[in-house]
Amino acid sequence: MKVIVTDEISEKGLELLQNDPRIQLDVRLELEKTELYQIIGDYDAIITRSGTQVDAKLLSHATRLKMVARAGVGIDNVDVLAASERGIIVVNAPFGNTNSAAEHSMAILLSLCRNVPDANASLKSGQWQRAPFTGCELKHKTMGIIGLGKVGGRVALRSRAFEMDVLVYDPYISEKRATDLGTSLVSLDELVSTADVISVHTPLNEETHDLITAEHFVNMKDGILIVNCARGGIINEAAMLDALEGGKAAGAAFDVWSEEPPDNATLKKLIAHPRMVVTPHLGANTFEAQTNVAVDVSREILNLLDDKPVENAVNIARFDSDLMAQMRPFMKLAAVLGDFISQLAPENPGKVTFNYTGKLATHDCMPITVAGLVALLNRCTDQEVNMVNANLVAERRGLVVEQSRSTESEFFSNLITLSLETPQGKRTIAGTLFEGTPKIVKMRDFDIDFTPEEHMLVLTYKDRPGSIGKIGTILGEAEVNIGAMSLGRRVKGGEAMVVFSVDSPVDEKTLAKLTEAVGASFVKVAYLS
Ligand code: NAD
Ligand code: MLT
Repeated sequence: MKVIVTDEISEKGLELLQNDPRIQLDVRLELEKTELYQIIGDYDAIITRSGTQVDAKLLSHATRLKMVARAGVGIDNVDVLAASERGIIVVNAPFGNTNSAAEHSMAILLSLCRNVPDANASLKSGQWQRAPFTGCELKHKTMGIIGLGKVGGRVALRSRAFEMDVLVYDPYISEKRATDLGTSLVSLDELVSTADVISVHTPLNEETHDLITAEHFVNMKDGILIVNCARGGIINEAAMLDALEGGKAAGAAFDVWSEEPPDNATLKKLIAHPRMVVTPHLGANTFEAQTNVAVDVSREILNLLDDKPVENAVNIARFDSDLMAQMRPFMKLAAVLGDFISQLAPENPGKVTFNYTGKLATHDCMPITVAGLVALLNRCTDQEVNMVNANLVAERRGLVVEQSRSTESEFFSNLITLSLETPQGKRTIAGTLFEGTPKIVKMRDFDIDFTPEEHMLVLTYKDRPGSIGKIGTILGEAEVNIGAMSLGRRVKGGEAMVVFSVDSPVDEKTLAKLTEAVGASFVKVAYLS
């Protein structure tokens, strides 16, 4: 497996990969975009921080890529949808740098309050000045936290340790989380107009871009302090500059920028403002955090290599690993059913339903559904369908996917039934596990019983004496050996379905002979991968 590292990642954390003989690890920092386009096609995984834009264009060159591993929490530099469409897993390291970011938020806030950067520069330049660097305290001030997630929660606790009152605006958390952390949940308007310090800790997305604008600044207290250690652009930077220049804001401490490295005039002015404390996106730059996130993403790459479930994929549902271990045989069964029905059912399916009955139905069956869907779709598209993109591919093709569960099962302790609705009618296939091996027990409304093998032949015809003999003779003449056979019929002399597993493929000429010999209404071969 070839892995490319395009941003600075802790070497210690990468040791896991460096020590694995199956992995070729190439650290290629500071590549031009075009250079990366040229070489990305050689790699199975890419490890980045926020410095590499993993966008649709880059991914279009990434023909071999299976994983984008973001050594940090923010995935705003990764086009997750484009990756998902290509079946590429995106993982991040959502916990490893939380503490580091929370401590940095407090560090830059305290530096701002106590004029540490200016006082430091003054003393180092040989001056001894004290009065100009008189600061303000946090004690008994009101902290307004926007986004009470992992980092925001820690900033809240630390603010309380400084004896601040803490207000929170976060529409997605429970009131309990806010009260458990000793904070009060309020509206954005209330937070903006009451806080002495506002610190943002949301992800950057369409909803949070420009979350704080010039209008919000109007309603803030005079002398407001603003902290942004989350993402550039959550606080409108031009509005921030105006608030500093107009005297509304007493100061601000920013670690992150809408353009990194900052190059435009507004950002240059903002950074240069004397009441700004600034750092170049250092929130996660502690030795501890960098080791943590590098270890976390390295583990994910090893999970991928070892075909184990990844822990922190942002584009695949996360399932408990014990549950996954139990589900694996059923995922295989669903894949067999999906593979089989996709070859036998009429074209243009509009809906697929996965029905689970028996003990299995007590669990979350979504991984089984996705595994079945992967197999169902893989036959009908050139694109590789996998657990990452199966639902997206189904949606794009207009295929509705439904799932139902019932713990009651009449004959089998566990049964998976897959129904496909097509313009030519509904087709159903059902299977169970027999001593861990997939067994198909129903096709359409025929009760049958066979273990799917590589080459299968399915016929339906009117049940007449001698039909099976004729089929056997024709297959024998074509030198096709029958391994096993299962016959299903509704009534004597009615329509019958027979499924053969054969040792070699059956050609078109033989299929035509079979159709003629038994008056088959349906003849198809299926190949199980
Ligand atoms: P998180 O997902 O744990 O928390 C985000 C919180 O924001 C959640 O509670 C969510 O409900 C809330 N939220 C989402 N949309 C919101 C909205 N519109 N209004 C109010 N709240 C909203 O994320 P986290 O790990 O705490 O990270 C927070 C931010 O810090 C992210 O932007 C992350 O990229 C950034 N970060 C920066 C650094 C750094 O180096 N400066 C390091 C780590 C994290
Ligand atoms: C993050 O999103 O984790 C931070 O921005 C840290 C980083 O990657 O530098």
